Amino acid sequence: MQLIDGKAISGQIKDEIKKQVAKLKEDGRSVCLAVVQVGEDPASSIYVRNKHRACEYTGIESLNYTFPESVTQEELLHLIEELNQNPKVHGILVQLPLPKHIDESVVVKAILPQKDVDGFHPENVGRMFIGEDGLVSCTPAGVIEIIKRSGITIAGKECVVVGRSNIVGKPMGLLLLRENGTVTFAHSKTKDLKEITKRADILVVAVGKPKFITKEYIKDGAVVIDVGIHRNAENKMCGDVDFENVKEKAAAVTPVPGGVGLMTVAMLMYNCLKAAMKQEV
Ligand code: GUN
Repeated sequence: MQLIDGKAISGQIKDEIKKQVAKLKEDGRSVCLAVVQVGEDPASSIYVRNKHRACEYTGIESLNYTFPESVTQEELLHLIEELNQNPKVHGILVQLPLPKHIDESVVVKAILPQKDVDGFHPENVGRMFIGEDGLVSCTPAGVIEIIKRSGITIAGKECVVVGRSNIVGKPMGLLLLRENGTVTFAHSKTKDLKEITKRADILVVAVGKPKFITKEYIKDGAVVIDVGIHRNAENKMCGDVDFENVKEKAAAVTPVPGGVGLMTVAMLMYNCLKAAMKQEV
């Protein structure tokens, strides 16, 4: 089995970005990401910290805005408007989930599409849908990169995506289609899930259930991409795929940690660079 090395591949991407950011700096230009966090959800705090670290590594400036859980939607929208207007800020990211009294979709739509480095704004989602250039959601974009940079061809392959969220599952299917894969979406209402997932040459799993996918769900020689991130009581990480169980049967698997999670952050850096280059010409 090929262990797909997310650490090496994301490192490669971050190094490429670091070089391009340094080149921009020689021309007196910069790249700047604003990260907004509401409350102190421990998982969100880890993700936000990783994003700032990646900025530091690549030479991207990062601004940090932290609000208490009690912040009003109006206050949050006020900050977004300020960041939209600030020509020094190229990317705006509001860490999700937000508290229940705030409407996430209103917040996402308030971000200027050209600064929407998460690729969640309907304009960016729509652009991806019709194959126009825009900012693409980082996790599915990272999955495409990790597959391609592992030397795996997508064109003509049976691709099965398990999960249909707006952040991962739906855009994942569209991007695999854009790469000429034959795509099936499976989800919680799918009948006989195993029969569907066993057809996959490339299986992308984003179900949010620890170690859900075992060898009974995959065919011999499948490529298995694990988008899940879970922590057990001892804080040990695992994915949606039972890695030890599938590793003899699969041709290639992404580990957790060390797989797709690192790619998400690398693609965020890519989106920041892309946003800055578009905005400063
Ligand atoms: N929460 C979980 N994943 C993400 C992500 O990709 N972006 C943002 N903003 N919040 C998240």
